[in-house]
Amino acid sequence: MRSAIGIDFSEYKLAGIRRRLARRLALRRLTTLGEYVRLLRDEPAEVQALFEDILIHVTSFFRDGDGIEKLKEHGFPEILRQKRGDGTIRIWSAGCSTGEETYSLLIALLEFLAQEDASGMPVQVFGTDISEKAIEKARAGFYPDGAMRAVSAERLTRFFTKGEGGGYRISKSVRQRCAFVKHDLAADPPFSKLDLVCCRNVLIYFGQELQERLRPAERLDVGRHQNDGIRSLHDGQWVSRPFLRVSRGNTCDRAGRP
Ligand SMILES: C[S@@+](CC[C@H](N)C(=O)[O-])C[C@H]1O[C@@H](n2cnc3c(N)ncnc32)[C@H](O)[C@@H]1O
Repeated sequence: MRSAIGIDFSEYKLAGIRRRLARRLALRRLTTLGEYVRLLRDEPAEVQALFEDILIHVTSFFRDGDGIEKLKEHGFPEILRQKRGDGTIRIWSAGCSTGEETYSLLIALLEFLAQEDASGMPVQVFGTDISEKAIEKARAGFYPDGAMRAVSAERLTRFFTKGEGGGYRISKSVRQRCAFVKHDLAADPPFSKLDLVCCRNVLIYFGQELQERLRPAERLDVGRHQNDGIRSLHDGQWVSRPFLRVSRGNTCDRAGRP
């Protein structure tokens, strides 16, 4: 995979990679890894199929219950307090898959700002994923009816437009505040000057060392998985190793001091 498409999965959990390989072997009716390696060499399309299979793009709007809703109580008020009259609120949805998480975050934030009489506050949300295919879908912002299960009727009216042949498109005013970019969390430099980084259901696929490298300095536990969640990085720094050491107990001030 590394030589074919330049992506290094060596820091991902081996058990997960094995399961995806077993799935591809079964789909292609092969029994040994040797046969599969030969197939990968002969069929570039299979490399792409394996890449997308390993990534697991499962996602949905307002996933895992009220996680994103909780931000209205425990994250957004703090950000607004700091930002009032001072620049743009910048959020990064890292490993955003096809965009549902990014749009859900933005919708929740817009609702919160309206409620606080701060709708004029500039907002920018970045959605990134290692998969260009997923990012293209996110940019298009068009989803089938079935993807709308957790979206209330009120939100559908306010933040979506109904497609003529079915499905829903995120409204232009929401889309304009989102920028979707291909980005590899394991290899590319992080975004900066952020008020909130949301990275859910992504770290669970990474091995211990990579998880440690990316582990949040300050975290709001609203995710489902122990090592995942939503975190805020008010100082806009990525979490480096020394930064991690001082923040073991998840308690540090905004300058990263324990
Ligand atoms: C299960 S989805 C989670 C999507 C969303 N965060 C959510 O919770 O609904 C995991 C996503 O992480 C992405 N991913 C995996 N490795 C990545 C990496 N190294 N850099 C960026 N994204 C990655 C995958 O492509 C996939 O879309």
